Amino acid sequence: MNELEAKIRIDELTALVNKHNYNYYILSQPTISDFDFDYLLKELEKLEKQYPHLAHPDSPTQKVGGDITKEFNQVRHKYPMLSLGNTYTEQELIDFDERVRKGLGQAPEYVCELKFDGLAISLTYEDGKLLRAVTRGDGVVGDDVTTNIKTIKTIPHRLKPGNYPQIFEIRGEVFMHRKTFDKLNDVLKKELELKGLDEEEIRERLYKNPRNFASGTLKMQDSKEVAKRPLDCFLYFIYTDKPVADSHFESLKKASEWGFQVSDHHQLCRDIHEVMQFIKRYEAARADLSYEIDGVVIKVNNFAHQQELGFTAKNPRWAISYKYKAQSAITRLEKITYQVGRTGAITPVANLAPVQLAGTTVKRASLYNADEIERLDLHEGDWVFVEKGGEIIPKVTGVNLEKRLPNAHKINYATRCPVCQTVLIRKDAEAVHYCPNETGCAPQLIGRIEHFIGRRAMNIDSLGGETIAGLFNKGIIQNYADLYELSAEQLLGLEFETYNNKKDQWSKRSLQQKSVENILKGIQDSKQVPFERVLFALGIRMVGETVAKKLAKHFGNIEAIAKATKDDIAAIYEIGDKIADNVVAFFGNAENLEICLRLKSSGLNIEVEHDQLVQRSDKLQGKSFCVSGVFSMSRDELKALIEANGGRNVGSISKSLNYLLAGDKMGPEKLKKATDLNIPIISEEDFLLMLG
Ligand code: IVH
Repeated sequence: MNELEAKIRIDELTALVNKHNYNYYILSQPTISDFDFDYLLKELEKLEKQYPHLAHPDSPTQKVGGDITKEFNQVRHKYPMLSLGNTYTEQELIDFDERVRKGLGQAPEYVCELKFDGLAISLTYEDGKLLRAVTRGDGVVGDDVTTNIKTIKTIPHRLKPGNYPQIFEIRGEVFMHRKTFDKLNDVLKKELELKGLDEEEIRERLYKNPRNFASGTLKMQDSKEVAKRPLDCFLYFIYTDKPVADSHFESLKKASEWGFQVSDHHQLCRDIHEVMQFIKRYEAARADLSYEIDGVVIKVNNFAHQQELGFTAKNPRWAISYKYKAQSAITRLEKITYQVGRTGAITPVANLAPVQLAGTTVKRASLYNADEIERLDLHEGDWVFVEKGGEIIPKVTGVNLEKRLPNAHKINYATRCPVCQTVLIRKDAEAVHYCPNETGCAPQLIGRIEHFIGRRAMNIDSLGGETIAGLFNKGIIQNYADLYELSAEQLLGLEFETYNNKKDQWSKRSLQQKSVENILKGIQDSKQVPFERVLFALGIRMVGETVAKKLAKHFGNIEAIAKATKDDIAAIYEIGDKIADNVVAFFGNAENLEICLRLKSSGLNIEVEHDQLVQRSDKLQGKSFCVSGVFSMSRDELKALIEANGGRNVGSISKSLNYLLAGDKMGPEKLKKATDLNIPIISEEDFLLMLG
């Protein structure tokens, strides 16, 4: 590589590593494995060593990692929060041990701990009381998340009596148990479905793993919300000016006596071979833990030894982590099946010969879309690698070509819908195939009725997915307008098959008087639901709750929307051409129009009620507002007024903000930030004047 090539590669790697740091620390949505990330970082470090004059002055190799989010108070760490060097092989560990022994001139004891896959937190205790909790941030300055941390039940607000220092810091890892994650992510998935997002968007927005969920939770501004998402925390290192013990092992014991939760899974090791045994033991046992770990942390036990070894710019020389590779297994691909979603989106699924992976039996894995099948070059009967790297659903990551049969056929993506046999289409630039048979494909029709009755739509909770599917399969309903014509006679005694997920079996259930009454009452009550939710319930592609609200407010009633042209719709702020196309297509369909007419005659709200029609204009078009403090009206009312007049609400202050709408008692931090950034600060009166 010549100097010019090195410069290009260094620039490229710097930008890449910065981007991945941002995805990981700020968005909590990494798009690369830790292994691949370390690989990039190491390549950059190597090049920078070779060509120091080409290194960027603020290179990510010189920083611990993250960045800080804008909304919390920022606190400088008394002791910088460093990260650890990573190793992946036995040899790298042996090298570490050699470095340590050379540095000390003797063989040390090590403490092995699990490397919890969460996010680091630093807690400060003063006189035995929790004073502050700060995230790692960039290692020097972090976010003060004390209020959120106080929702974690295992973090003591006050310590048990003991000989702890008057003031000290203790660091640990905040994480979420797998079961909590699965439950909450399921709830989130349902909410996103109800918002009208399609499968791909939902997949993107769901938390990929407990770590991201924990991190997203800790960054929330509303600690009441945080409390609804139970987090947990293990503590693993005490920081004081004078050590509380001679060794790390003893200090952990003390921490636990004072009331901190210290994981039992740690061990004193006499040499690096005992360390290896610990690593091997937990590689097998990690699947049985209720939380995720991504490796083992190895620390020199004696504090005097730690001091002697000291630090590099980024890491302590007395500790290192050993990272487990993503868990993977190999199994045979039996067939590919295709699922049809409410919007007609097709998702291919690999059906696999059952295989044990990370403590569960895997029978199915994601294939995402046709491009992915092409990328993997899947052939019939292939032996495939499946991985559970941080993701909830295992994915197929590759094919073992040695096991491919010589005359195996290449798998061609389905050309027809697996349910209604309609030829699938793929829209320009979209990765997903669709079944275009919107009005005749059963899973789409059932899915649309299920969406219609959802909590955030018509909220008919006396009806469930299985009842809907049962009514549809028996030919009693074909679309959601039919719900309003159901009678007690039609429903009483109807038999449905229901599936029990836990027992993995089907059973029969028949509708009794009480359920029938509930169903009919739920349907009747839904006639009170406001127009914007009715509009959302219709299930127009890309019309989620927010868009439905905008359309309802702008046009006022369903007839006006049905008559609107693409340009009329796309002219509304933040509604693009694609949404407009979908709205026009929906109302351009005679069957949909007829269904809407039937909903109208059944008495559903198809226009905005008068008091909802706040003053409307384009006066604030293109302007963004951040509303903060106390006003003569509620903040929600103010925000609605901003939106009704074409403005946009944003939650935080940045360079691009147009106005800070400041009320009484607003936070000094926001005020300072807005002043620093020269953002106009306006009062409620100024704002009302803008509306004229
Ligand atoms: S000790 C200076 N112990 O791994 C040493 N870290 O890259 C401080 N982690 O930032 C860290 N489990 O977020 C330590 N048992 C453990 C850990 C652990 C997880 C995380 C922590 C740290 C990162 C190091």
